[in-house]
Amino acid sequence: MDLLKSAFKASFAAKTEELKDLLKANGNLVIDQVKIEQLHGGMRGIKLMLWETSSLDAIEGIRFRGYNIPQLQELLPRIHGAKEPLPEGLFWLMLTGEIPSNEQVEWLSKDWASRAEIPQHVYKILDSLNNSVHPMTQLSIGILSLQSESIFAKKYDEGITKSSYWEYMYEDTVNLIARLPGLAAYIYRKCFHNSQHIAADPSLDWSANFAHMLGNDSPDFKDLMRLYMTIHADHEGGNASAHTVHLIGSTLSDAYLALAGGINALAGPLHGLANQEVMDWIYEMIAHLGTDNPSKDQIKEYVKKTLSEGKIVPGYGHAVLRAPDPRFLAQKEFGKEYCANDPLVNIVWNVFDVVPTILEDLGKVKNPWPNVDAHSGALLEFYGIKEHNFYTVLFGVSRAMGVLAQLCWDRAYGLPLERPKSITTEELKEFILQTAN
Ligand SMILES: CC(C)(COP(=O)(O)OP(=O)(O)OC[C@H]1O[C@@H](n2cnc3c(N)ncnc32)[C@H](O)[C@@H]1OP(=O)(O)O)[C@@H](O)C(=O)NCCC(=O)NCCS
Repeated sequence: MDLLKSAFKASFAAKTEELKDLLKANGNLVIDQVKIEQLHGGMRGIKLMLWETSSLDAIEGIRFRGYNIPQLQELLPRIHGAKEPLPEGLFWLMLTGEIPSNEQVEWLSKDWASRAEIPQHVYKILDSLNNSVHPMTQLSIGILSLQSESIFAKKYDEGITKSSYWEYMYEDTVNLIARLPGLAAYIYRKCFHNSQHIAADPSLDWSANFAHMLGNDSPDFKDLMRLYMTIHADHEGGNASAHTVHLIGSTLSDAYLALAGGINALAGPLHGLANQEVMDWIYEMIAHLGTDNPSKDQIKEYVKKTLSEGKIVPGYGHAVLRAPDPRFLAQKEFGKEYCANDPLVNIVWNVFDVVPTILEDLGKVKNPWPNVDAHSGALLEFYGIKEHNFYTVLFGVSRAMGVLAQLCWDRAYGLPLERPKSITTEELKEFILQTAN
């Protein structure tokens, strides 16, 4: 059994026993209550699933196994001359609860590089798609085509015991994560660089190799990719892409089928597509104002125009967060160090200075602060990744790490099929009548 697989086994074995005892003694305790407005309002805030890899605090933001983003930046190993930590270390942390050593991360990096080969039929399917098909749709199709490689599906077909599900899920998960940069880079070079593909360099870490295959070998862009892949990896279980993967996985669909579903959820403008929307919105503002150096007053007027047309300001607001997203702030710090004079990056910062007050004044927006998507596009564009409709694909590659690590936990715990109860409006009216009497 490989290094991480055995570390994960040791980690969940203890937790599974603990969870069993905890459920036996406390299974009937009420943890939450549901208001009718939550039933209609996207089930906000209702505690209804287990999620081990991360937890979201409304003010502090995301914590991965207890560590917030600044702590991760300090503690996760940096290898291969990187200034930013390697996301491989975060994956290790999500599965084991332990910050890995440099040697462990180096091993994991090599392990992923050795699993990265993509079968030819996947390329053929991608090549058959017209470039007018959105890159997120192509990513989803690419992941589905890779499903031919699912070890879990094959083993399930042969007949395996429930206690071994996690092993095959682990294999699928790491194989899929290892292949995603190659898949995403193939889509990028096919759509935007005339199918001039760049071969993988297996001597590089996962993110640096991704940067290389996209077409930018600068050390700074490789560090941006390491940061980007780390901060987008997980945002607890209730967000749409994470919950989708968890739900699909609960039917014992394999990791490929489950992740493709999550990618489809991420492709929505209220979720991951917001990074594309932010950049499109900024460019529309630049065209409308006739300057790529708009003043804060000009930005204010444009924000008000956007709102008066009944549109949302992309990259602002959140269903859970109630403060500036630390993922936005981490990118701002990166921008200050590497591209403080870039006009687009400065627009992003000026938008940050004016939007929250305007949204607050509307009186209905619960979180007027920027989220992760408000910043990422400007940094990508600085390093030459200028195709806005590719940005959510990068988000998807990173998000795979968190949701797939959790899928391993789901199978290790033997979590059952998800099947909540729905009710009709008639039943709701009946309930209200009965409660009133
Ligand atoms: C993320 C988002 C979907 C959260 O939705 P939510 O939990 O329903 O947010 P709220 O409870 O604050 O929404 C209350 C109202 O404020 C509005 N609102 C929220 N964020 C807004 C924004 N950025 N611009 C304009 N209006 C916004 C909502 O549309 C809603 O209006 P309504 O009552 O007229 O329908 C929402 O903030 C949004 O659409 N943001 C922009 C898209 C985005 O950046 N998505 C990425 C999220 S990581």
